[in-house]
Amino acid sequence: MPTTLRVHRTTWLADRVTQVELRDPTGAPLPAWEPGAHVSLHLPNGLVREYSLCGDPADTHTWTIAVLRESASRGGSAWVHERLTAGSELPVEGPRNTFELLDAPEHLLIAGGIGVTPILAMARQLATGPSPWSMLYCGRSRTGMAFLDVLSGLADDRLEVHADDEHGGPPDLAAKLSGLGPGTVVHCCGPEPLIRAVEAALPHGVQLRVERFRAPGPAASGPAAGFDVVCAGSGTRVAVAASESIVDALGRAGIAVPTSCREGVCGTCETKVLSGEPDHRDFVLDDDEKASAGTMMLCVSRCRSAELVLDL
Ligand code: FES
Repeated sequence: MPTTLRVHRTTWLADRVTQVELRDPTGAPLPAWEPGAHVSLHLPNGLVREYSLCGDPADTHTWTIAVLRESASRGGSAWVHERLTAGSELPVEGPRNTFELLDAPEHLLIAGGIGVTPILAMARQLATGPSPWSMLYCGRSRTGMAFLDVLSGLADDRLEVHADDEHGGPPDLAAKLSGLGPGTVVHCCGPEPLIRAVEAALPHGVQLRVERFRAPGPAASGPAAGFDVVCAGSGTRVAVAASESIVDALGRAGIAVPTSCREGVCGTCETKVLSGEPDHRDFVLDDDEKASAGTMMLCVSRCRSAELVLDL
């Protein structure tokens, strides 16, 4: 359930990027979170938008997000930039984490543009630990790259900043990644071209964790057959037609599942599976998580068995 939080302060950070600090109006502490976590803002225009927490987890009274005003905003980032001011209150849900910082002998963090938000929280944690790490922060121009000063202080010479307008184009990722040793984990968040370039340049033995802003393409397809979903809590059985999503079928039956992206990217609709064989079509879970079949994204994933029992 969302909690109503108050905007404590907004701060301009960079071109088209504003920071929003949220606090409980009663002064109560907020739930703890770890790097990679995000929260859902329930905007008064009916939209639900996910934003990574980028503040300091040790500050238990403030959740900090940074929002890029998208040039093709569908109504979320524009509303935040134009209407959200200090003192505004709105429902916020979370934190939820589908992009945890993995343990590794060595880390490389790669951020593109506003993808710096979860990566900043990771850098903060790695800066206090013993493991070697470094970071590549890419953007079109430094004027649009938030947190450059904070990161310089945290990472010092571990930070490489690549502004396309200073180098005549994007970074040479093959050269950058070729020196990584086996066991290194790369965490990357940014626009799709950056993620695809990192995937293409990844050396053997190096693990990659990514967080995407949007689905890289249509959700994976497969046999389109109907099946039944059973909500374990109430025993309600809902038939899901071949042409509709589980979320839509449940909604038709009066069972609301929280959603945001509806593209299998954000993890908002992640739900525990009690029995049945999920047909995972999302971009959140990795292969191991999909194989364990513990949870699934109800906005895009389907079912290979005749029945799916969910923890609803
Ligand atoms: Fe975003 Fe389902 S609503 S993954």
